[in-house]
Amino acid sequence: MSKPPQKRLYIKTYGCQMNVYDSERMADVLRPLGYALTDQPDDADLVVLNTCHIREKAADKVYSELGRIRRIKEIRAEAGRSTRIAVAGCVAQAEGEEIMRRAPVVDLVIGPQSYHRLPELIARTSRQLGERLAADFQPEDKFDRLPEERTVHGYSAFLTVQEGCDKFCTFCVVPYTRGAEFSRGPEAIEAEARRLADQGVREVTLLGQNVNAYMKEQDGGGLAALVRRLAKVPDLDRIRYTTSHPRDMDEALISAHAEVEALMPYLHLPVQAGSDRVLKAMNRGHTALHYLRLVEKIRAARPDIALSGDFIVGFPGESEADFEETLEVVREARYASAFSFKYSRRPGTPAAAMPGQVAEEVKAERLQRLQGLLEEQRQAFNRAMAGRTVPVLFERPGRYQGQIVGRSPYLQAVHAEAPERLLGQIVPVRISGAGSNSLAGSVELEAA
Ligand code: 5AD
Ligand code: SF4
Repeated sequence: MSKPPQKRLYIKTYGCQMNVYDSERMADVLRPLGYALTDQPDDADLVVLNTCHIREKAADKVYSELGRIRRIKEIRAEAGRSTRIAVAGCVAQAEGEEIMRRAPVVDLVIGPQSYHRLPELIARTSRQLGERLAADFQPEDKFDRLPEERTVHGYSAFLTVQEGCDKFCTFCVVPYTRGAEFSRGPEAIEAEARRLADQGVREVTLLGQNVNAYMKEQDGGGLAALVRRLAKVPDLDRIRYTTSHPRDMDEALISAHAEVEALMPYLHLPVQAGSDRVLKAMNRGHTALHYLRLVEKIRAARPDIALSGDFIVGFPGESEADFEETLEVVREARYASAFSFKYSRRPGTPAAAMPGQVAEEVKAERLQRLQGLLEEQRQAFNRAMAGRTVPVLFERPGRYQGQIVGRSPYLQAVHAEAPERLLGQIVPVRISGAGSNSLAGSVELEAA
C-alpha cells in the first residue's frame, strides 16, 4: 500500500507570540492531512499567512506578500501544480471580506478562533465556497477541538492560556480582532504543559493578550495560582508569561515572583506613555505614578527582575511636554528591553477619530529619542551581567563551530563554547561580556 502523497505547507507568521503559537497549532491540525512544513513558499501546496492587524504597516504587509505569493502560484500552475492560499489571523478577522475582494488569489480566510476548522475548509475550498468564515468568537471551541498532539521544536515553547481583551485602549484593535477575555481551564493547560515536558520542553511562556487577567472573573486564584500549579510539573524548570497589564498585576502574582523559583525574573509590563493626560485619553486605567509604584513593589519582591515594556509615541494630542514625561518614566523605571512604536491610526478605534493627530516627522523624531534612551538602558543592563554566573538554558547550536546558544533567566541570548550535549540543559555560565545583541560566557561546571 502506498502512502498518500506528502503535501507541503508554508506558514508565514506576522506579529505577536500568540500568532507563533497559533501557527504551530495550525501545522498540528494539518499534519494528519498529510501536510509537512516547508520553509520554501514555491514548494508549498498550501500557503498560510498568519497576519497581524495591530499597526497599519503590519496589515499592509499582507497585501504585498499576497502579490509575491500570487506570482509563485502562477509559476507553479504552469508546471501543473496547484497552490492554495489561506489568510489567517487578525487581518483575516478584521478585513476578511476586503481581502476576498482585493485579492482574488486567496482561497480562504480564517479568523483566529477557527483554526480547528481548517481541515474542513481546505477540503471544500473553491473560490465560491471560500467566503469569509468563522468571524465569531468562541475560543472555548477552538481549544477543545485542537489536537492534543503538538510537535515541539526545541526546549522552549509557547502555551496560550488566555485570549482576548476587555480593556479597550483607545488606540488598539485587539478587543475587536481577538474578542473578549477568555481563559482556558487550568486542567487543560496543565495537561498541555505535561505533554510538552514529556517531549523535552524545559521552559514554557504562557501567552495571553492580557495574560495576568487570567481567570480574573472566576474562582481559581488567577495567573499566580496557575504559575504555582505549573511549577510542580516535573522537568518544567522555567515559566514565563506575556503580556501583562498594570491593572491586573495583583499581590498574588507579585508574591509568586518572590517565591516561585521556576518563575523567571522577567516581566513585560507595558506602560505605553508617561503623561497622565495621554494615559487617560488612551483609556489605560492607570497613571504614571501608579505604574512606577507597581514597578517598585515588584522590585521589592524580586530585585533583579528584568523589566520590559511597550511604548507608543505621538498618540493624538501628545505634546512635547507629554512626551518628555514618557522619557521620565523610562528613566525611573529602568528597562532591560522594550518595544516602541509610532502611533498608527487604526480605523474603527476611538483614537483614530481624536483631534490633534501628530505629524509623522514629530512621531519619528520622538521615537528616535525614546529608542536612544531605551537602547542605553538595555546595554547598561547587559553590561552589568559581566562577571556574574547565571543559569542558561541552552537551546540550539551557535553560528560558529563549537558554540551553543541559550537564554539567561532575564531572556538575554547567551553564547558559550560548549559541547552540543548540553542542549536542553540548564547550566551555570559565567558571563564574560556583552555584545550588542547577546552575552558571551563560559560554562562553569560541566553538567553531569
Ligand atoms: N499604534 C501603535 N502601536 C500600537 N500598539 C497597539 N496598537 C497600536 C497602534 N494603533 C502597540 C502597543 C501594544 C503593542 C502590542 O503594540 O504598544 O502594547
Ligand atoms: Fe490592546 Fe490595551 Fe488590550 Fe493591550 S490592554 S490588547 S493595548 S486594548
